[in-house]
Amino acid sequence: MITFTLNGREVTTDDDPSTPLLWVVRDTFKLKGSKFGCGAGLCGACTMHLDGSAIRTCVTPVGAVADKAVTTIEGLGTPEDLHPLQAAWHEHSVPQCGYCQSGQIMSAAALLENNPNPSEADVDAAMAGNICRCGCYPRIKKAILSVSADQLAYEVKAKALNRAEETNA
Ligand code: FES
Ligand code: FES
Repeated sequence: MITFTLNGREVTTDDDPSTPLLWVVRDTFKLKGSKFGCGAGLCGACTMHLDGSAIRTCVTPVGAVADKAVTTIEGLGTPEDLHPLQAAWHEHSVPQCGYCQSGQIMSAAALLENNPNPSEADVDAAMAGNICRCGCYPRIKKAILSVSADQLAYEVKAKALNRAEETNA
């Protein structure tokens, strides 16, 4: 049995520890936002956060996330309460087919958590491992750079306060 935190909730699975985290999240826990692309850690479609860092979950065995915190695109924001990046994606009409986009947003979110004021070069470096077959790269970069540090800090603080209120309720 492997226990870890998935989008803020403790979960347990009896999947084989060598099963890729992507399949455990999609098939066992039925969260389908993270996608399978290459299966070899090369395209970024499967990106989630592990303790706040972006990881390729098609090559991460679920055994490696025991007692750690996994966040998927479903845990980043909701349709009623979008993460600032999700709002920016909407505002800039970023996606074309959409297949790569949850991975793109998860990589961008990890970047902004560590570096709330990235330069264009920082964005290029952080996003280099996320492939988009539709070529949405200019809009992806524009959306990331449009999320200001102040806006991000405000939203993150507001979400933390909401979570604390819910926990204490
Ligand atoms: S599906 Fe994981 S990096 Fe491509
Ligand atoms: S939007 Fe189609 S692959 Fe990126």
